[in-house]
Amino acid sequence: MAHEHEHEHEFILEIPEFEHLSYEVEEGIALVTLRRPEALNALSQDLLQELAEVAEVIHQDPEVRVTIFTGEGKAFAAGADLKEIAALKDPFMAREYALLGQQVFAEIAALPLPTIAAINGYALGGGLELALACDLRVASREAKLGLPEVGLGLIPGFGGTQRLPRLIGRGRALDLIFTGRHVSAEEALSLGLVNRVGEDALEEAKKLAQKIMKNAPIALALAKESVVRGEGLDLAEALEIEADLFGYASATEDMKEGVRAFLEKRAPNFKGE
Ligand code: CAA
Repeated sequence: MAHEHEHEHEFILEIPEFEHLSYEVEEGIALVTLRRPEALNALSQDLLQELAEVAEVIHQDPEVRVTIFTGEGKAFAAGADLKEIAALKDPFMAREYALLGQQVFAEIAALPLPTIAAINGYALGGGLELALACDLRVASREAKLGLPEVGLGLIPGFGGTQRLPRLIGRGRALDLIFTGRHVSAEEALSLGLVNRVGEDALEEAKKLAQKIMKNAPIALALAKESVVRGEGLDLAEALEIEADLFGYASATEDMKEGVRAFLEKRAPNFKGE
């Protein structure tokens, strides 16, 4: 399937041929689908490399408003590829391997506009860590989430020991990390690990994306930037960043349109300007 949206671009966006994932954009929603169903979408180094490439494409694609990551088949992703982990020869190689995954997920976390993981099944180990690098997580009812690494004599290495406690708190995170247990979508919801649960994760994620896309795109990016940059700073410094970004937002055409539309009692027509 050719990328039909390409001709609308002012410049030609080079989209690489992907082997282990697919990329499509429809009405502002970019959909990245991991496609190694025979290995439950385990994150091989080739797949990680393609995720880095697709993040670059999304970054440059002016049509994208929200990105959804999902998996083909019964898994979102069942973790790092254990065949590759078995072949790691020494701690230095293993460290490089962790750094590779961390770097790729950092690129996904740094995408300027909202990202959603549509967790359609297993999200384990590196698979859950990918979902944690997204802004929001939506799960189908039968999804199973967990960080089983200690059961393999490993620890989470693609960001799990850092992003999970930041998201759900240290005690809850260590429960999952120490036991390695699989949690249901329902429990994940009550832990704050996922934002929504539905019959079909992808459909639910698309509904969420559509709600988000009613809002001003630059404001969405600035709001994300404020949250991300504020993490790890003390409150006073973080609030200064918020005020600066509030200033930027106020200078957009969309801000004028948003306020005008409110006063005229109509829906705003945002242009991303
Ligand atoms: N790596 C490589 N292959 C994997 C895989 C993985 N992480 N997970 C599943 N597969 C493969 C299986 O080997 C199997 O392949 P074959 O048919 O060739 O034997 C195929 O996918 C289907 O898997 P199962 O037969 O095991 O399916 P199941 O329905 O019985 O079980 C499961 C599903 C519970 C998810 C089970 O596959 C499982 O426990 N997978 C491993 C999960 C895991 O430990 N992930 C953490 C990896 S370590 C990590 O991620 C480190 C990090 O932080 C970076």
